Amino acid sequence: MSTAAAKRLEGKTVVITGASSGIGRSCAFEFARAAPQNLRLILTARRLDKLHEVAAEINNEVGGGVQVLPVSLDISKPDEVRSFVPRLPEEWRDINILVNNAYTPRLSADPRTLVLTGYQRLSQGGSQGARDRRRRHQHHV
Ligand SMILES: NC(=O)c1ccc[n+]([C@@H]2O[C@H](COP(=O)([O-])OP(=O)(O)OC[C@H]3O[C@@H](n4cnc5c(N)ncnc54)[C@H](OP(=O)(O)O)[C@@H]3O)[C@@H](O)[C@H]2O)c1
Repeated sequence: MSTAAAKRLEGKTVVITGASSGIGRSCAFEFARAAPQNLRLILTARRLDKLHEVAAEINNEVGGGVQVLPVSLDISKPDEVRSFVPRLPEEWRDINILVNNAYTPRLSADPRTLVLTGYQRLSQGGSQGARDRRRRHQHHV
């Protein structure tokens, strides 16, 4: 990742769903490598033990500049999705980037619910929503 991109990531809080394996896990490492000095990563999936392993591996590789918070979240359970952001520690709730990677064929909740619960501006349509997202440096991948 370019230095300019790394600079833009500095100090940001990133949520990655499905971070216990595969693409989500790889994304977590790439974000950490891109901004090793100052980044917050919230890693979610059902297997909390795997998330803790990923967190330890990331900290071993890049050091303590990347804070990693493993959080259990089953995206097929609407109640878990709705309460996800309120359950986070206060200082982790101002989320800048969502990598909405987890997928389940038995999804009973609209995946956009995750976005709608915690940071409505991210999902707002229209030009006002776009302006808000740019101002807050929020992105949905
Ligand atoms: N790999 C490819 O070639 C490819 C191609 C096109 C699209 N994709 C898409 O990319 C995404 C990731 O693919 P992948 O190959 O990395 O898959 P993967 O290795 O099977 O990883 C899936 C991740 O999603 C999590 N997950 C599954 N069900 C979940 C649930 N109900 N709630 C929360 N987390 C859940 C799993 O963790 P837990 O089991 O711990 O919950 C795991 O971390 C998927 O959406 C897939 O459809 C992949």
